[in-house]
Amino acid sequence: MHCLKKITENLIWVGANDRRLAMFEGVYSVPNGVSYNSYLLNDEKTVLFDTVDKAVQQRFLENLCEALGSRTLDYIVVQHIEPDHSAVLSTLVSRYPNMKVVCNKKTLDFIKQFYSSDIDSRVHIVKEGDALSTGRHTLNFVMAPMVHWPEVMVTYDSTDKILFSADAFGSFGALNGALFADEVDFERDYMDEARRYYTNIVGKYGTQAEALLAKAATLRIDMICPLHGFVWRKRLQSIISKYMLWSTYAPEENGVMIAYASVYGNTENAAEILACRLRDKGIKTVMFDVSVTPASEIVAAAFQWSHLVFASTTYNAGIFVTMEALISDLVSHNIQNRTVAIIENGTWAATSGTLIRERLGKCRNITFIDKMISIESSIKKRELAQIDSMVEALIASLSAQSEIAVKKAAQAPVLPNTVDTKVMSTLSYGLFVLTARDGNKNNGCIINTVTQITEKPLRISIAVNKANYTHDMIVKTKEFNVSVLTESTPFRVFQHFGFHSGRDTNKFAECESETRTANNIIYVPKFTNAVISAKVTETVNYETHTLFIADVTQAIMLSQERSVTYQYYFDHIKPKPQLPKGAKKGYICKICGYVHEGDDLPQDFICPLCKHGVKDFEPIN
Ligand code: FEO
Repeated sequence: MHCLKKITENLIWVGANDRRLAMFEGVYSVPNGVSYNSYLLNDEKTVLFDTVDKAVQQRFLENLCEALGSRTLDYIVVQHIEPDHSAVLSTLVSRYPNMKVVCNKKTLDFIKQFYSSDIDSRVHIVKEGDALSTGRHTLNFVMAPMVHWPEVMVTYDSTDKILFSADAFGSFGALNGALFADEVDFERDYMDEARRYYTNIVGKYGTQAEALLAKAATLRIDMICPLHGFVWRKRLQSIISKYMLWSTYAPEENGVMIAYASVYGNTENAAEILACRLRDKGIKTVMFDVSVTPASEIVAAAFQWSHLVFASTTYNAGIFVTMEALISDLVSHNIQNRTVAIIENGTWAATSGTLIRERLGKCRNITFIDKMISIESSIKKRELAQIDSMVEALIASLSAQSEIAVKKAAQAPVLPNTVDTKVMSTLSYGLFVLTARDGNKNNGCIINTVTQITEKPLRISIAVNKANYTHDMIVKTKEFNVSVLTESTPFRVFQHFGFHSGRDTNKFAECESETRTANNIIYVPKFTNAVISAKVTETVNYETHTLFIADVTQAIMLSQERSVTYQYYFDHIKPKPQLPKGAKKGYICKICGYVHEGDDLPQDFICPLCKHGVKDFEPIN
């Protein structure tokens, strides 16, 4: 019997769940099952977005039949040919002889590799930017190579503002009657599985995921329909902001993940002592026994936490087997931007620590805590001092990385409640931290539009994306602060305020409350040259943004440093794509992020991933 879910008047979920699958792709445990999503658009033409895995094809076919009713299927859009989404394609090709297969050239190649169907005459090939009208709806095709395979594309329904996102924004876990993320407590019950899905399936391809996010940022998106997991129709920013962190390998949490491999419990003992001493100092810790916890969970945690400790016994003159597998997994998933500490154990010739360091040293931007701890069989009193040194080094590193400007606020001066008109000269097409307060809740986000409108009264305007939580707070409270960022602002400040959603993160968790202006709203005293407090007098609705017009109530210069401009940010602050270690020169594809190593790029070079030519490449050094 069919089991459908209605999404909009003419969009129907026709997918199915599998709770019997033990290992997704044969490697990732899925204790909560997995959903294979497929969507039918009933327009003047009927359009199906992908199919499902063969394990659930019967339910899918019943669903499709019911959703079509007496109609036939006019188009199938193949966004991703991986068999968990295309297993029923051949059946549909036979069943609906007039159905067109909409896909890109690379997908067609893969269809022929996986399935023998002779479909050339049935194919409608699309490329980046192509559109297809199906009646009331217009479908726009956006290539997303390597998110997760090279042929992947996503589809934007510009009529209803729906992004059919293929593997992006998906999650492990069957849908238990609910289809929309807002029907469940996603943050509490599903975010871990969304992270485990992203990091293990797409994690290696951060550059390509970032490229897709950049394209998506140019679109107004009201709903996201992925191929696994929940459909997003509310609070889209909460999952998009996670993707911004994950795709740039930016940690979500300041704290220490400890993974250990222990044969007789002695290495575990050292790891436990370290964790206890870190906790005693107020540092957040999580621990995993790599012989027990599936590697996919530890890979996900490594993407989540800022500091990683690996403790391993030596085995066959190398790293213990389960730890070796984990390290290899992390390297192949491109882990980067982390601080790492190592504890090794060995009864006669400890080598595991040096080998772990060697392997992780090949990853980008890994900072090692200098003193590795080397234990002989079991931890002794003399090694406790080394553990304390490691604790101190980790705390020092954590503090340095969490200096998000408002910490140590007790040292911040009390600001005069005055308006210094010189502050207006700090405004440029720059970047600013916009802060607001609603009761006890503080929040801040990055904006790039603050403009003086009039001098008397002193009035400014700000444009704020409606997806931002700060936007909603200002709509409600009608007050805000603007902290003007300077050229010395490190990228992590932009990540902190720009890549998290305040709906699920307290961005000021580590701050003290003294850095407030007279309106009792937090401002950012570090990496800023001025703060402006303002009271909203008028709002103008601009589809994706609200323009707030506001009277300045307080304006204070904080430093003489130059304001950061948007251009300066891109030229000097936002990290540039990097060449793999050892490579001296190369070129990056601006479309998909593919890196070609070498001094020259031949004029006829074609990107092997997205098939764009040399004009879409730029040099990296
Ligand atoms: Fe769910 Fe890349 O397939």
